[in-house]
Amino acid sequence: MTTSPLKDLAQQVDGLLAIIGELASVEALLEAEPSITGKRSILSTLQKSLGSLEPSARRDAGAQLQDARRVVEQALEERRLVLATSARREALARDRLDLGDVVVENVLWPVSAGHPGLVASTQRQLEDVFVAMGFRVSEGPEVESDWYNFEALNIPPAHPARGLWDTFYVDLGEPETVVLRTHTSPTQIHLMEEAVATHTLPIHAVMPGRCYRRDAPDARHLATFHQIEGLVVDRGITFADLAGVIDTFTRAFFGADISSRLRPGFFPFTEPSAEFEITCTICHGEGCRTCSQTGWIELGGCGMLDPAVLEAVGIDPELWSGFAFGFGIDRCALMRHQIADIRAMTENDVRFLRQFS
Ligand code: FA5
Repeated sequence: MTTSPLKDLAQQVDGLLAIIGELASVEALLEAEPSITGKRSILSTLQKSLGSLEPSARRDAGAQLQDARRVVEQALEERRLVLATSARREALARDRLDLGDVVVENVLWPVSAGHPGLVASTQRQLEDVFVAMGFRVSEGPEVESDWYNFEALNIPPAHPARGLWDTFYVDLGEPETVVLRTHTSPTQIHLMEEAVATHTLPIHAVMPGRCYRRDAPDARHLATFHQIEGLVVDRGITFADLAGVIDTFTRAFFGADISSRLRPGFFPFTEPSAEFEITCTICHGEGCRTCSQTGWIELGGCGMLDPAVLEAVGIDPELWSGFAFGFGIDRCALMRHQIADIRAMTENDVRFLRQFS
């Protein structure tokens, strides 16, 4: 009687299952696969040896070998799945991007909390000065109709002041002309209209915000800049009140050693009008590039409210009078910190910004 070539089959299958269980990676499995189920594997060698058996014994042995192969192949597939799943998990864990993670090496500056920019902090300091003087803070829209930006301020369509205050136009598909405001003065109109509608005169308010002009950038000008408007409407207000407020503001914001002056000027919505200037803090009045060699820097315009403007919003100029002013916030920051070129404020150079944290 011949010995069956499959007499050690169970042990051989156990050996293969043990090898499969030891495989540690998909790559190792791919490498080992030909020796477990391939042409030169023990299973294939056994398959070939069945040829020497009697036909009926061969059939039984063939079926037995098939079962054994199925068990081994299934174990191999299960192992492949386990290894592939854990490989995917490891890759995910490795590639995970933690946005809260801060890599401290190789950064240009030590990581620190952010801080308000120079314009924002200057705006807050200006607001503080005026709030301490009894003003409230209000705001108005940056996109205005032609009426609020120009006409309500006594600037009809052909007025020469429109050339100085040319701006960007917004096409809303409406017949009305809509602009990015050239100054914060339209907020005067909004506030006066609101006070008339709600019977809440008098008004003592400052209105900060962004403005736009078709100005070519230079040491003193930007196309997008900021102003703080002031408006007082009350009984018996005179030019002395305006001059007193501006003088108090100058001392509080720039310090007692800075001189200011009001130079006669013209604005269509105030009468009389004045330009407010302080000694250039870059050259201390000697003359430099920043002040165009004049020794003075213009910070804003001001004047007594024109009776025509009061009447247009329904305020009786016989009973009420007032003044308004509009200062450049960026210019105030420039002079307070002795910055020679206003364009530094928009360049976002971190070495510049860090100085004002
Ligand atoms: C006005 O805008 C008037 N609305 C001011 C005013 C208000 C007058 C209330 C009377 C009553 P002016 O165009 O001069 O005026 O601008 C006022 C200030 O805004 C300037 O002195 C300057 O400080 C600032 N400013 C104007 N244009 C620019 C610009 N392109 N870049 C930076 N600052 C500017």
